[in-house]
Amino acid sequence: MSELLDKAQNFENETAAKIAASKELQAQRPQFHLASPSGWINDPNGFSFYNGKIHLFFQYYPYENIWGPMHWGHVTSTDFINWHPEKIVFAPDESYDCGGCFSGTAIEDAGKHVIVYTGVTGINSPQVQCVAVGDGETYTKLDTNPIITEKDVPFEFVHEHFRDPKIWKDGDTYYLLAGMRSKAKGGIFVLFTSHDYKSGWKFASVVDESDFKIGAMWECPDMFPLDGKTVAIFSPQEIKAGCPKGFNEGNNSAYMIGCFDKITCKFTRDILPASDATAAMLDYGIDFYAPQTMLMPDGRRVLIGWMQNWEVKITPPEYPWTGMMTIPRELHIKDGWLYQTPVREFDLLRGEVVTKVVAASEVSAYDAIFACRHGEIDFEISEDAATDGKGKLELRLAQSRDKKTFVSLFFDTKMKTLTFDRSHISIPGKTFCRTMELPTSKNGKITFRCILDTCSLEVFINDGQAVFSNIFFVPAEHDEISVHNNLSEDVKFTFYKMK
Ligand code: FRU
Repeated sequence: MSELLDKAQNFENETAAKIAASKELQAQRPQFHLASPSGWINDPNGFSFYNGKIHLFFQYYPYENIWGPMHWGHVTSTDFINWHPEKIVFAPDESYDCGGCFSGTAIEDAGKHVIVYTGVTGINSPQVQCVAVGDGETYTKLDTNPIITEKDVPFEFVHEHFRDPKIWKDGDTYYLLAGMRSKAKGGIFVLFTSHDYKSGWKFASVVDESDFKIGAMWECPDMFPLDGKTVAIFSPQEIKAGCPKGFNEGNNSAYMIGCFDKITCKFTRDILPASDATAAMLDYGIDFYAPQTMLMPDGRRVLIGWMQNWEVKITPPEYPWTGMMTIPRELHIKDGWLYQTPVREFDLLRGEVVTKVVAASEVSAYDAIFACRHGEIDFEISEDAATDGKGKLELRLAQSRDKKTFVSLFFDTKMKTLTFDRSHISIPGKTFCRTMELPTSKNGKITFRCILDTCSLEVFINDGQAVFSNIFFVPAEHDEISVHNNLSEDVKFTFYKMK
């Protein structure tokens, strides 16, 4: 073990012990989402099933709650909910990754756990692809690293934007898909193949390209078969406002559905229903980025994302940790869209259930109708539940007893939008609001499944047709939930506390 790895491990152990010993520090943390053990985490990495367990690695700087030279942290699980801490697997301790071990993925191969990742030596230095092999606990970086460099790419591109390899094997061929910034086309996916993952990687194709329409750089590519189609997911950077429709300015995470041709190694996109778009947002919230997927032995394709973003960092500076992952989500294609639903293991967490009906036009003084910071809230409304022109339903969550501090989820039937507003929590200069257009439903009803866990709210709309994930930090004792119903219909809420 290198000195750097040893040092990081000791530091993580110390912080984890500090958090475990403090009720106050524990109360800030989510209960059923994976959160950083110490310091900063970002992208999920190496999400895979190996040796009877679900493995999840993550981009990690254990020393402070800011991004720094990337290590890889590691946890394992058998149910996607309870995560067992494992030892940190990588520190930036080799000549080709001394600036950081950036994102990557993992597969099982001949009994071994094979990881591909990006090595960087500095912020503006060329990015190279590397391999490490392990047994689920410790991993060894190969002597043949780096296995792919800028010299293996037969066209012009920006060398410091070539990263986040996704590996898979088909027959006796290994495939490695990386994100890249091409000078001519903006964000692209580039594919390499090899018959031996340790060496011999050859450029195969540019699988798909943005042409500057969906961002200038495509980070964290993933591509996998699902329900008879191929799905590609990626995190495009530098999206221009309004282009494409539904995307936000800056970084986004998106999916495309289509076909992958194994002979030409090209991806052809389908046009998504009810639009002329070929890419849609994976999550419309403020806090979602860099997701990746894994395949379970039972055939489920499961996605996990980083529940934060690069642009607005709101974790209080005094926290010894920052960064969480989403609830893992099962994926399906339905009516031409990608649907995401919380893994079914999550349902087993549901405990005490309470239902409350809030009558039409019941505009209270925001009195609490329920108190909870870890639970699920389900409700359904009609798309056209507005008769008087008001047509609004507001839920306030994490509300303080004096009602001054809260976050709000705001449904507007006239505009057909859902808004998350965290401007009533005191983060100087960091107030923020996000509005999304709601998907149209077939039966005129819109369903909401809201998952609340201390400092995050994930809303699954129409059984996962769209998702809206947002985070916030307020003291744990602010746990009131209140409702303003300005719709023309009663709304029935089902609240579940978590076991
Ligand atoms: C995405 C990303 C990746 C990179 C990693 C660095 O969030 O920028 O492209 O590998 O984070 O931590």
